Amino acid sequence: MGEALNTALPTDFAYALRKVTEIAACAAADWIGRGEKERGDGAAVTAMRTVLNRLPIDGRIVIGEGEKDEAPMLYNGETVGTGGPALDIAVDPVEGTSYLAKGLTNAMATIAVAPRGAMFDPGPAFYMRKFAAPGMAKGKVDPTLPTREILAGLAKALGKPISDLHIYVLEKPRHKRLVREIHEAGARTMLYPAGDVAGAIMAALPGAGIDALLGTGGTPEGLLTACAIQALGGEFMGKLDPQLHTEKKAVDEAGLDINHWMKLDQLVHSNDVVFCATGITTGLLFDGVEEKAGHYRTQTLMLSGARRERQILTSWLHREEVEEALGAATPEATADKKGRG
Ligand code: FBP
Repeated sequence: MGEALNTALPTDFAYALRKVTEIAACAAADWIGRGEKERGDGAAVTAMRTVLNRLPIDGRIVIGEGEKDEAPMLYNGETVGTGGPALDIAVDPVEGTSYLAKGLTNAMATIAVAPRGAMFDPGPAFYMRKFAAPGMAKGKVDPTLPTREILAGLAKALGKPISDLHIYVLEKPRHKRLVREIHEAGARTMLYPAGDVAGAIMAALPGAGIDALLGTGGTPEGLLTACAIQALGGEFMGKLDPQLHTEKKAVDEAGLDINHWMKLDQLVHSNDVVFCATGITTGLLFDGVEEKAGHYRTQTLMLSGARRERQILTSWLHREEVEEALGAATPEATADKKGRG
């Protein structure tokens, strides 16, 4: 890594940050299976903003999410916090909005922070080609090679046959050829319709049953993933891969290079990164929100790069604490909830 950026983040910062995704997940949980993608996302965004604004940080949102779908968003450049260390913040208040709206597994609330200036600014790029793998593969696999050779390099780095590799790929028409090539090479695919952040994290988490993530997904999700994998000590590389005509034009005009695979340190220029993700619906990594006995039970993955900590925390949040935060966020949302009774 180049020159390290330091924030002097408090040592237990992940514990403070996890409240942001916990409360956002609780806000979104009220929208599970209601067919209202945007309202669920909106509830999580507003809750996240409220809790972020209570943290002792000088935070700036550099990776918001929502522009792609014209959804509600924590907008890029928005400042949050009561003052403190200068941080860049990447958020995806609901990663897997379709899962949330359909009541399916794997929706989660996510956030990452790094020292100010540490995160790559993708400008108008919505889509990124991604390669994620365990730390053992760091620097040993060239994602520019044909799929068969990528898999051969990965198998060698991980010390297992290609036939034992499990590759997470988003099930999208654009990945038909990639999926065919993976099968032809003899490896297995794990195909999910959405949620490549979880797939990439699983590739870098020891023993999570995924050996790599390949394919193209969202750029904001790519930056969040880069932060999580930086904190995990795994391998991640990304290349801007515009899919839409308007996006191609905007990326060209912004002078962004779409041929260059960026290494992890180019995407996040610090290992002083903290990442939190809380399950909204139960998924591959952790349980979703459960509301019972006057509490919200949540599970949060907390990763801290500088402290090399990787934990999943189960919290029982008092109902009043959550409702106070949500009430402060959106008086209408509380009324709405009561109205549905
Ligand atoms: P949403 O939460 O916005 O629905 O995103 C989910 C997701 O599947 C991401 O995990 C992925 O990076 C991106 O969408 C892929 O975008 P698209 O569905 O447009 O191909």
